[in-house]
Amino acid sequence: MAYILNRNFKKDSRLKKNDILDVTIESLAFGGKGLLKIDGKALFVRNSLPGEKLRVKVIKSRSGFAEAIPLQTLTRSKYYVEPECSHFKYCGGCSLQNLKYEEQLVQKERQLKETIEHLGGVKDVEMEPIVPAPDVFHYRNKMEFSFSNKRWLTEEDEHKPKDFALGLHVPGNFEKVLDIDNCHLQSELSNRILNSVKESTQSEKLKAYDVRNHNGYLRYLVIRQSANTDDLLVNIVTKRDEPDKLKKVVEKLLIDCPEVTCVVNVINEGVASIAYGSKINLLHGDGNLHERIADVNLEIGPQEFLQTNTKAAELLYAKILDYADFSKDDDVFDLFSGVGSISLYIAPHVRSVTGFELLPEAVDSAGRNAASNGILNCKFISGDMRELFRDLDFVKKAHGIPDVIVLDPPRGGLHPSIPKRISQLKPSKVVYVSCNPASFARDLKLFAERGYKLKKLQAFDLFPHTPHAELVSLLEYEQK
Ligand SMILES: C[S@@+](CC[C@H](N)C(=O)[O-])C[C@H]1O[C@@H](n2cnc3c(N)ncnc32)[C@H](O)[C@@H]1O
Repeated sequence: MAYILNRNFKKDSRLKKNDILDVTIESLAFGGKGLLKIDGKALFVRNSLPGEKLRVKVIKSRSGFAEAIPLQTLTRSKYYVEPECSHFKYCGGCSLQNLKYEEQLVQKERQLKETIEHLGGVKDVEMEPIVPAPDVFHYRNKMEFSFSNKRWLTEEDEHKPKDFALGLHVPGNFEKVLDIDNCHLQSELSNRILNSVKESTQSEKLKAYDVRNHNGYLRYLVIRQSANTDDLLVNIVTKRDEPDKLKKVVEKLLIDCPEVTCVVNVINEGVASIAYGSKINLLHGDGNLHERIADVNLEIGPQEFLQTNTKAAELLYAKILDYADFSKDDDVFDLFSGVGSISLYIAPHVRSVTGFELLPEAVDSAGRNAASNGILNCKFISGDMRELFRDLDFVKKAHGIPDVIVLDPPRGGLHPSIPKRISQLKPSKVVYVSCNPASFARDLKLFAERGYKLKKLQAFDLFPHTPHAELVSLLEYEQK
């Protein structure tokens, strides 16, 4: 029974909104909130760490769970570390930064295992130990900052302009942006770029976007820096197609940061809050980012996908090879193939790879990447996976029958028709790469119903200090 401090709990011991009580956090829940059980009911506590004793206030109470915010720290967690970043208190970007890195790994591994057991219906999941990130700070090769005409005002920000910010959204607020001048997830150089663009867009009096009224000009700043080449692409996303307005901004950027190899201006005239658009203006350089993963050279368009932690992705790709255990006469399908990074990495180990990808421009990049690497046994097909696999007779005639399928879908996972179609193609192995344990677990169930059993599983920490991780798994077909 919980000891509620601000009301007579003997009459009603169930947690209610505004209850104040002292608790000890037991673990971290999926998504990063602290978790404990009170009379069998889960209590999630924002901004808390395992082992921490806190006085908390309940802000939400439902039949199965309640949620609270900390009012006071009574005893610090033994896993507490001083956060490196001065923005930590307000910024939701890396909510686990004050948790010892070793403990972040322990918590992530446990959460992943529990999620897969619970949602995937798999008992006693065996997981190889989680692979730590090679670098725990400055590891991201891509950061996306938002412009806003509504600054989130901190105590230190009182004297700064209220109608301009370039940074990250504070958690739970779609409108206000916390101005950031030093993000520890990106490189020092990328921070210089952030500050140069911030200074010049303000001195040029360019208007930051208003997400409520959909006016203003500047929407996003996307910085992409290669880890294994000297490439650096800056993308300024604007509401309107007026690239001349950015002339001085680009001139100053190239003086402040001569390392920048490419600047583009993507136009998003729509209302969706995304850093993507239908038109790209080239302002400097050749319009692409060049990166190398292991021995594969990749050219990536400004709006095309690449794993955001290059060094950790190299470890993950090696695991795909390990789990697939390819033979030289294997024909492989790579679903959701992007710019061909996985296809081209595995190509030397197999007879052929056919990549399937939605974005035609990514398919074009993949084709160019195959050619520039002298790889002749890969081809790439453009279309929506659902449509592409609708007519399996056509797929078999056009592309053959795969021995192994590798798939790396977006966060939402697979449309339910895809596990069905894959099972009709009957590859002996499926290597499933996922960035979302919940959708992965759901899809695992669909595969299991069709005879594909989870054989191996390992998590990779591509995103230190955040609640996210990447998974690689091996599913094998077992005759019933
Ligand atoms: C997580 S990324 C993986 C890309 C690539 N495998 C890699 O490692 O770089 C997912 C890819 O799926 C593509 N995609 C999203 N929805 C799709 C769909 N319905 N059909 C085919 N491809 C899709 C995206 O454009 C993106 O390139």
